[in-house]
Amino acid sequence: MSQAFIIDGKTIAAKVRADVAADVARIKSEHGFQPGLAVVLVGEDPASKVYVRNKAQQTVECGMQSFEHKLDDTISEEFLLDLVAKLNADPNVHGILVQMPLPKHIDSNKVLESINPAKDVDGFHPMNVGKLSIGERALAPCTPVGSVILARSYQHDLSGLDAVVIGRSNIVGKPMAQLLLRENCTVTIAHSRTKDLPGVVRRADLVIAAIGKPEFVKGDWIKPGAIVIDVGINRIVKPDGKGKLVGDVDFAEAAKNAGAITPVPGGVGPMTIACLLKNTVEAALMQKGLPPMR
Ligand code: GUN
Repeated sequence: MSQAFIIDGKTIAAKVRADVAADVARIKSEHGFQPGLAVVLVGEDPASKVYVRNKAQQTVECGMQSFEHKLDDTISEEFLLDLVAKLNADPNVHGILVQMPLPKHIDSNKVLESINPAKDVDGFHPMNVGKLSIGERALAPCTPVGSVILARSYQHDLSGLDAVVIGRSNIVGKPMAQLLLRENCTVTIAHSRTKDLPGVVRRADLVIAAIGKPEFVKGDWIKPGAIVIDVGINRIVKPDGKGKLVGDVDFAEAAKNAGAITPVPGGVGPMTIACLLKNTVEAALMQKGLPPMR
């Protein structure tokens, strides 16, 4: 049996960041300003702290300004809304990201909807969700954008492919489907109530797994030659007691059927921050009335 091509997210993310750095240098020399990204972290969630540190470091490495706001988890919703209003008004801030999850006493939707849509580099604001769905220039969520770049790195033209997205979240599944429609795929969104999920997945030329269940998609669900993009990141404990990161796809078995597959870790994960930086450049250009750079 053949083995799938392994799509290397680390290398492709490094290429995206290099493109961002080149675009930032051009913006500075041709347009005379420096794009800036503000990240707001509320509380002490360990995973969120790691993400925020990595975001800040990579923002600076790409030549942009990074603004970090670390707040205690006891702050009020009003305090956070007030900070967002200040960032909305700050001309040096082109992108705003409020790290999720937020403490329970704060209404996440209310906070996300308070962000100026032009600075919404997560692409979570209803204005951007709507623009994406009607095909207007919009900021689109980072993980789905990164997933499309990975699929296209293997097959540049995705036109006409039968794509099956497993998962219907607002952050991944739904925007993923919109982006694949834009690539001219025939898109199915499958979810926990889908009848005969293995049968649906077996018809797919492109499988996007975003369910959040470790190794849920089995190897024999994958059509020979299909492209498999695994968005899941799940920490499991092996029988020997050691921890391990796995995706939503049984990688070893799926790799026997797939044409190409992303690993976990080292697949979609590194793309998310790279696409956030890309979105920050795009947000800055849109705010200045400038066209996309590539
Ligand atoms: N928490 C985990 N991933 C993300 C993300 O992409 N954006 C935001 N805002 N919070 C997150």
